[in-house]
Amino acid sequence: MGVMGNIFDKCDFESKIFENRGIMLPSYLPEKLPFREKQIEDMVSVLSACTKGDRPTNLFIYGKPGTGKTSCTKYVINQLDEFAKKNSLRIRTIYANCRQYNSKYKVLSNVVQKLLPERDIIGYSGTFVYENLLAYCEKNQAKLIVAMDEIDKVKDLDELIYALTRANEELKKGAISIIGISNQLTFKERLDARTKSSLCEKEIVFPPYNAEELAEILRERVKMAFKKGVVDESAIKYAAAIAAQESGDARAAVMLLLRAGELAEKELLNKVTDVEVRKAKREVEEEIAIDMISTLPEQQQLVIYAISRLTFEKRGIKRFDDEHALCSGEIYDEYKKIAARFNIAPVSIRWFQEYIGELETYGIILTTNSGKGFKGQSRIIRLGLDVEKVKTALEKRFSS
Ligand SMILES: Nc1ncnc2c1ncn2[C@@H]1O[C@H](COP(=O)(O)OP(=O)(O)OP(=O)(O)O)[C@@H](O)[C@H]1O
Ligand SMILES: [Mg+2]
Repeated sequence: MGVMGNIFDKCDFESKIFENRGIMLPSYLPEKLPFREKQIEDMVSVLSACTKGDRPTNLFIYGKPGTGKTSCTKYVINQLDEFAKKNSLRIRTIYANCRQYNSKYKVLSNVVQKLLPERDIIGYSGTFVYENLLAYCEKNQAKLIVAMDEIDKVKDLDELIYALTRANEELKKGAISIIGISNQLTFKERLDARTKSSLCEKEIVFPPYNAEELAEILRERVKMAFKKGVVDESAIKYAAAIAAQESGDARAAVMLLLRAGELAEKELLNKVTDVEVRKAKREVEEEIAIDMISTLPEQQQLVIYAISRLTFEKRGIKRFDDEHALCSGEIYDEYKKIAARFNIAPVSIRWFQEYIGELETYGIILTTNSGKGFKGQSRIIRLGLDVEKVKTALEKRFSS
């Protein structure tokens, strides 16, 4: 045995592809954000009011997924913190992602918990939390800036915005400003008129990136994350082109190269080329879609859950050639059953049809018309993603 060495000797623990793989992960915050100079400058000009002791106007930031909203906001508030510290200014910034803090109570208690880390406020009433927030601002004469990312996820947003706005009327020395961030382009239109005018005092749009911009962003990232000379320019151009064509999403572009790099590593290659990017494409599209499913409203998630269960179990009426095709009617029945199981009131068939249309535009499902003689003019629906992945993601969602 001894002379044969260790069975792990063959495993090379030093990557031949990555220098620092962490730089390709979504959690990484780049130090430079090219093509966002204008947006950053606009944010600075609004927020700089607090460096003069004034309350900055509220800011609403919107743009499609992966256009740099979160990165730029975190960058700007980190810079503001640093500046405030250096100059002993009474400025506090707080970042909260509303995917996690999705109600007025959760957001406010998170804010207070961050301001007063030594105080235990878990389980206290909303009024108590709110009063602590006011007391903190007043006592510290603080200009508080609360950045609420994915703000469209807050269930009682009107109440939250109202509370934060009203706080300013009650405060003599302190002040609170809001930065709201959303990638739901129609979200603003759905807001209550008063909420809208409070939240959107100033707006900044983040447009999608084009292929050249994405390629430049990737080049910068690749320099730090990969070993020198490993990533072919063809891989960068191709990843940028795919992401630009889909939606101008920098997250997709970065993920394409990350997965392509992992593929190259697994296949013991010493270069990442457009071939690996092509192979990574489907996987990345699915990851992004599944992540998106987790942000959809509960009712739409239930519809997808019904579709994935039927597809997985190959249930439903017999089809001529395609065992994965489903009729909208049978999906609606399954959806109602699942909704009942989770004690959720089902939506009407008309709303259900709306959801089907919406899910199709997201690429989560594909639909075709059944044609004549097949159960009236029902639509035939197919899941556009890997059924196991979708089902697993939603089972996790609904079991918690
Ligand atoms: N200008 C840029 N320069 C470098 N990297 C960028 C730039 N814009 C975005 N990225 C990168 O793209 C990814 C997505 O960016 P970010 O999370 O900021 O997008 P977002 O607009 O908040 O998207 P979403 O609406 O989905 O939350 C991150 O990995 C980020 O580092
Ligand atoms: Mg974001």
